[in-house]
Amino acid sequence: MTRTVYVNGEYLPETEAKVSIFDRGFLFADAVYEVTSVLDGKLIDFDGHAVRLQRSLDELEMASPCSKEDLLEVHRKLVELNGIDEGLIYLQVTRGSDGDRDFVFPSEDTPPSLVLFTQNKPGLADSPAAKKGAKVISIEDIRWGRRDIKTVQLLYPSMGKMMAKKAGCDDAWLVEDGYVTEGTSNNAYFVKNGTIVTRPLSNDILHGITRKAVLRMAQEAQMKIEERLFTIEEAQGADEAFTTSASAFVMPVIEIDGVQLGDGTPGPIARRLREIYLEESRNAAV
Ligand code: PDD
Repeated sequence: MTRTVYVNGEYLPETEAKVSIFDRGFLFADAVYEVTSVLDGKLIDFDGHAVRLQRSLDELEMASPCSKEDLLEVHRKLVELNGIDEGLIYLQVTRGSDGDRDFVFPSEDTPPSLVLFTQNKPGLADSPAAKKGAKVISIEDIRWGRRDIKTVQLLYPSMGKMMAKKAGCDDAWLVEDGYVTEGTSNNAYFVKNGTIVTRPLSNDILHGITRKAVLRMAQEAQMKIEERLFTIEEAQGADEAFTTSASAFVMPVIEIDGVQLGDGTPGPIARRLREIYLEESRNAAV
């Protein structure tokens, strides 16, 4: 089925949507993005994503394409037009184009490009992958130093995912100076003796919207949380591990670099947090 997508003010069939070949998103990865999940036809944590988008734009001195209210309207309309019950909405803002390639930014009155499309994913919440748990490998983190900005420079995370696939695994955790930063497209955690450990926020990792919600819910459920640096070896010795993201919610991790965690099935804390997260997010969805 042909999707209806949104490009710069217009709702169009995906086959007719166009962006200039000079667009800086295409030529320089000069663009930021957000991925928002949809459950029961409603948006999960729209507010969190809108706030982070604005922060990414501000950090790169990129103009906002429209107001938060307008963005909400576009998200909702795309969900409706494409009949999405469970899935994702991808949003990208680029610095636009002044009709040529130049390292220097175009003049400030160059309008940004705004593109949104839906991804229909029936069974996103009741996912077989989450019931099985993920196997991860570790790879060196060679990304740039501003991972807190959600840019579309995703070649290395994409390569990391391929390295994992080649190794018969599902994903990769990135390691810098001996410590885990995050997953290719998610935040990383392990659990030892009931304490949840995850790296603290800094420019080294993306400030996950799901991370924030899950840590709040864990705290409300009286779980212990430590935000500190950790190594792959420490995570391998954990009782369980998991990742969080808008696209996979809470995903249990059952193996790290060939070392099985616990009995090799999703751990109780990851399973519980997934349940709580899905329930609370559905209730708060807009
Ligand atoms: N990725 N870390 C990285 C590097 C990410 O790319 C993502 C999200 C996260 C989790 O953030 P959040 O909880 O806000 O989704 C952490 C999205 C889902 C993606 O690129 O598809």
